[in-house]
Amino acid sequence: MKRTDYCGNINESFIGKDVIVKGWVHKLRDIGNLIFIDLRDREGIVQIVVENDFKNFEDIKKIRTEFVIEVTGKVREREKINPELKTGKIEIVAKEINVLNTAEELPFFPSEKKDISEEVRLKYRYIDLRKDRLKKNMALRHKVVLNIRNFLNDNGFYEIETPVLIKSTPEGARDFLVPSRLHPGKFYALPQSPQLYKQILMISGFDKYFQIARCFRDEDLRADRQPEFSQIDIEMSFVEEDDVLTLSENMLSSAFKTIGQNVSTPFLRLTYEEAINRFGSDKPDLRIKEEIEDFTEFFKDSSINFLKDIIKEGGVVKGIRFNNAKSFSRKVIDSINQDLRNLGGKGAFWIRSLNGELKSSLKFSENEINSFQNKTSIEENQIYFLIAGKLKEIAQQLDFLRRKFGEKEEGFNFLWVTDFPLFEEDEDGNLTSSHHPFTSPKYEDIDKLENEPLKVRSNAYDIVLNGYEIGGGSIRIHDFKLQQRIFKLLRISEEEIEKKFGFFIKALKSGTPPHGGIAFGLDRLIMIMAGENSIRDVIAFPKTTSGMDLMSETPSSVSKEQLDELKIKII
Ligand code: AMO
Repeated sequence: MKRTDYCGNINESFIGKDVIVKGWVHKLRDIGNLIFIDLRDREGIVQIVVENDFKNFEDIKKIRTEFVIEVTGKVREREKINPELKTGKIEIVAKEINVLNTAEELPFFPSEKKDISEEVRLKYRYIDLRKDRLKKNMALRHKVVLNIRNFLNDNGFYEIETPVLIKSTPEGARDFLVPSRLHPGKFYALPQSPQLYKQILMISGFDKYFQIARCFRDEDLRADRQPEFSQIDIEMSFVEEDDVLTLSENMLSSAFKTIGQNVSTPFLRLTYEEAINRFGSDKPDLRIKEEIEDFTEFFKDSSINFLKDIIKEGGVVKGIRFNNAKSFSRKVIDSINQDLRNLGGKGAFWIRSLNGELKSSLKFSENEINSFQNKTSIEENQIYFLIAGKLKEIAQQLDFLRRKFGEKEEGFNFLWVTDFPLFEEDEDGNLTSSHHPFTSPKYEDIDKLENEPLKVRSNAYDIVLNGYEIGGGSIRIHDFKLQQRIFKLLRISEEEIEKKFGFFIKALKSGTPPHGGIAFGLDRLIMIMAGENSIRDVIAFPKTTSGMDLMSETPSSVSKEQLDELKIKII
């Protein structure tokens, strides 16, 4: 019997027609003289009715949940409409049912409403993936990727695959290594990104490249990170920052049409400095309207000594105003201070207006309190939380307060963060790249490279959506002399440069066009579009936060023979 239609696609227009559907038994209800089967396939669920004159009625009662069956029947209007089902106005009266396969007793069923632990869901991913929610997420992922492929094709991009067994590229995380059997003692690395290859494609004259690229990073995982993840990787020649940003905006705007969303472009652009000052973060969630206000000048002659001292030592005082001051009970405030201490801070002080009175957790003079009122026009039932310290240290705490207590609007809020510093300092005071070592410094800052490297801004940009960094890129260095200067500042020795990137420097000298690009975290993007909180819910076979594939029980040991062949000894 050949299937005529998907279960989920049958609707009123089929009434009176014969159909053949195939799928999984989602639910079976036996009410004596009638049996109802909810039959499920990729597209949804349809109700099958088996009436008591059905030729092997008793056999049907033996069918269990998740058996695979095929049904021939006639579509008719339902007496009782089920508004929750796409097919809820019709049902199929069975004429013939064949069991195509049975299913053992399963640890959980797709029809179960109760919460199943993620561990069990991941171990039995094949059952979990039968659920509507994950099906929808995978379908969305497919549609978005297809849309993006078409968009980039229409804009003159070639999709080119770059190798997965490569020499390690420095993106900041650890490499996954792959031993070479043919070259014992030598290793490939899995790409953290196709960075160098895409730049080489520009050197080779491909002009516009993209790839849905799998990337591998051996880093500590979080809800929005996976050891292997996908990027929409893009590189373009003869472009400036604005060209990459505009293309990206148009691409995202096209992708969001797949979920019926019109996003307005261009997106807001903030410099890194402005983002930190106004939101305490380089990935602020702009669905939250509260902003950080600066009170450094205001408190610089404060009657409270510690504030004065912190400011004298180059610190700042910054605060955020929240509504509903009443809800910040003693208990809530204690827990806020604990949270801030967990973030390495010392806590916050507050000033609030309640019952017509302005009060603070610090003993300000009446004068000071009054001028605070004048400066802020704080209103009844509002509260300021204020933190004093070095901006670098308190920014994260202010961001935390904003995210936790700010009032969030629905929707999709995009933002570019530009002008990142080219370098950061590690704990030992050494320079590291904020983005990666191939990012070009801002032309007007090049003079500061050797003397004030931390003041050099870069042509790097991140794109932020609802508080998540969904992509990042830069205009690259195309002058090998400048590239060598950067390597030197990063204290990568001549020898190391030659060993690690000799091939790349050589390529840079062979006629490199100005170029730049970006990579989007596909999993994160889909997670947000699907309204999920974890990227694991938009990846068919994800790993746990400890990097395990619970279904196949990987990573796993390998045989002694395999290790011998690779000349590897486990110590
Ligand atoms: P970057 O390292 O910023 O840039 O990565 C680009 C985007 O990839 C996503 N991402 C991740 N998603 C899931 N799990 C992870 N472990 C993970 N790590 C990163 C983020 C991030 O914004 N080669 C450069 C791009 C370029 O310069 O063109 C790069 O890889 O959304």
